[in-house]
Amino acid sequence: MEELISATKSAFLDGSLVRLRLAGYHGSEPDLKSVDVKKITVKGGDKFSFTFHYKTRDIIKNLIQPEALGNLRIALKDEFRSAQLSTTGFDMAFERNGDKIRLKRTKVVGREAVSTDHNRAKNHPLAGGNKPYLNALGITGKDGVVRNDAQDKFRQINKMVEIFAPLIQAIKADKPRIVDMGAGKGYLDFALYDYLANVANRPAEVVGVEMRDKLVTDGNTTAAESGFDGLSFVPGTIIDYDASGADAVIALHACDTATDDAIFKGIAAGASLIAVAPCCHKQIRRQMEAGKAEDKLDVLLRHGIFMERQAEMVTDALRALLLELNGYKTKVFEFVSDAHTPKNNLIVAEKDGRAGRDRDAILKQIADTKAMYGIERHYLEGLLGL
Ligand SMILES: C[S@@+](CC[C@H](N)C(=O)[O-])C[C@H]1O[C@@H](n2cnc3c(N)ncnc32)[C@H](O)[C@@H]1O
Repeated sequence: MEELISATKSAFLDGSLVRLRLAGYHGSEPDLKSVDVKKITVKGGDKFSFTFHYKTRDIIKNLIQPEALGNLRIALKDEFRSAQLSTTGFDMAFERNGDKIRLKRTKVVGREAVSTDHNRAKNHPLAGGNKPYLNALGITGKDGVVRNDAQDKFRQINKMVEIFAPLIQAIKADKPRIVDMGAGKGYLDFALYDYLANVANRPAEVVGVEMRDKLVTDGNTTAAESGFDGLSFVPGTIIDYDASGADAVIALHACDTATDDAIFKGIAAGASLIAVAPCCHKQIRRQMEAGKAEDKLDVLLRHGIFMERQAEMVTDALRALLLELNGYKTKVFEFVSDAHTPKNNLIVAEKDGRAGRDRDAILKQIADTKAMYGIERHYLEGLLGL
């Protein structure tokens, strides 16, 4: 076992590692089939990239060397019966039967080293092939090439796929149902559907809810032309949409309190994932402008631009707390460069049995924040019946 680990480490260090595959899993993780380990070069340096192949999905974890080798040791000892190391110079087959271990090394000739550059594959999850929807959305020309004036938009939707695909892949449902509230032209829906079905081999059902009928009709026409059977757009407002059965509820730049409608629908449906990128935080801003905030905040609130930013932070911080209160582990981060839009915060909430247990503490934080900023009620509180 140590010989295999040492050979893997050497191949990782000298760049000859092609892949280590672990198979014959007999551990406690449901539906785990095999694991592939490769070398990857990312911003933080060289890492071991573990791809865990489950029955219906893949999960990737990138680990630094000591942690990766420690995990390998445990995996080979207790969890996998066989392993196959492939390098540019030799293969090594490992088999364990009870306490008996067999290790066989064979020479290989002419196998090329693999690229470890994460960015090569990563930059363009949607690259390759002529995609009718990209043409319909005005991103590519008739020749399938990304138009000069749409390069930014193309980068943006690739970035969205990079962010959302792993979140969707982490959902346990076999074919997750994703509802995009305030879908607009459906950039995210087409890209995500295409990526999941055709690149990640993890089909999902995607529904875009949109109140502008023309966008709904156009979206459905393009979905049919693309052969995307599981993608549809429905007309109507977010609050009137029956989201029951949704595994993920997403809303990107749904205006003002439409974001709260989407969060509420996600919570009510018990969705595993709720992800929203809010925009225009008018509802809370109006209450803050009424001037009932604590005096000591005057220095922050007397300037319009600071007021705007504070309103944005307070609105979204309260949303995050209300999500936690309802059993979601929540994080907030920037999801596209602020060169594209200043409204670039993404709230990602994943259902987690441990979140929201200390209800009283969360309720106190909400009450304290509201008192400090002179807020009477967050619109989402009303929807949640608080
Ligand atoms: C700024 S656009 C964003 C579109 C899309 N999510 C994107 O990021 O490209 C907001 C969209 O949400 C729709 N919308 C806003 N409020 C809505 C509501 N309450 N119900 C349904 N659609 C809504 C608007 O018609 C518009 O198409």
